[in-house]
Formats: sequence, C-alpha cells, structure tokens
Amino acid sequence: MYDTILAIHNILRWVVVILGALAVLRAFIGWFGKQAWIPADRKIGSFFAMSVDIQLLVGLVLYLAFSPVGLKAFQNFDMGTVMGQSEIRFFAVEHAVFMLLAVVFAHLGTILPRKADKPNKKHRLAAIWLGLALLVILMGMPWARPLFPSFG
Ligand code: HEM
Repeated sequence: MYDTILAIHNILRWVVVILGALAVLRAFIGWFGKQAWIPADRKIGSFFAMSVDIQLLVGLVLYLAFSPVGLKAFQNFDMGTVMGQSEIRFFAVEHAVFMLLAVVFAHLGTILPRKADKPNKKHRLAAIWLGLALLVILMGMPWARPLFPSFG
C-alpha cells in the first residue's frame, strides 16, 4: 500500500510540474504581450491549483499514515535526530512546509486574478502567484529521489 501511494505521489508530481509550467508561461505571455484574459487563462490556473490540491491529499496520507519519514519520524526518533538527519528533516519538515506554501500560492494565483478588474492585472497576478507556487514546488522537490517510480 505504502509503495503504491508513493508511486502515485511520484507520478502526480509530473502532472503538477507540467500544468504549473503551462499556467505560468501562459500568464507571463499574457502579461508582457498585453493580451486579453480569456476563459482558458482561468482554466489552466485552476487545473494547476487542483493538481496541487490532489498532491497535497496524497502527500498528507503518506505523511500521516505510511511514511517512516513523516509523522512517524517524530514518534520513533527524538527531535534532535529528526532535525539532525538531513533526509528525515527534509520530508518531516521542509518538504511538507514548502508544499503547503505552494498550495496557498497556487490558490492566490487563481483567486486574485478573478478579483482584478483589468486583463493585464489579471495576467500579472496569475504570473506572480502561480510562478511563486511553481518555484517553491521546484525548491521543495526531493530531486535526489527516483524521477519515476520503479515497479517490481
Ligand atoms: C505539489 C506538492 C508536492 C509534490 C510535487 C511532491 C513531490 C514528492 C515526490 C517527488 C516525492 C518522492 C517520491 C518517491 O520517492 O518516489 C515525495 C515524497 C513524499 N512527500 Fe511529497 N510532494 C508534494 C506535497 C506533499 C505534501 C503537502 C506532503 C505532506 C504534508 C508530502 C509528503 C511527502 C512524504 C511523506 C513523502 C514520502 C517520503 C518517503 O516515505 O520516502 N508531499 N513528494
């Protein structure tokens, strides 16, 4: 079960990164190209935020129930060990905090453009907040881990 959920979390990361890259690129092109704001601009941002939400849910299941380096790390080791061992600290603290920040930024990137009045401002707000979301996702990604799950 743990392996399956970890594999889903691994694969889903590419959905998140690809949708994020498309949404950010589109927002920057719209902003600097002074383009109109069309429904596709809103949709790509929402799809990105949705993918981050799903990844958050899968991550929480890993963190709270299955992973030895999630909540279990705090039960099995003392605080000094959790914070002192870089791999444990990375998943138990850093990865979770970076990705929670990404959830907040991605949602700001969909809510704030909706409230703005001018198309250029909508693109700018989407570019900034979705861009920040993608940035913290890339920063919080465990790049030393396999890029794809290995089955078997
Ligand atoms: C956009 C959001 C996220 C992305 C892109 C992401 C990406 C990843 C990746 C690529 C892995 C390594 C998978 C592997 O080794 O096969 C991983 C592992 C993990 N992630 Fe996330 N993650 C995200 C959000 C979260 C959140 C919000 C949490 C917890 C609150 C979380 C908790 C974990 C845990 C506990 C592991 C497993 C470590 C282990 O047991 O080896 N993730 N994540």
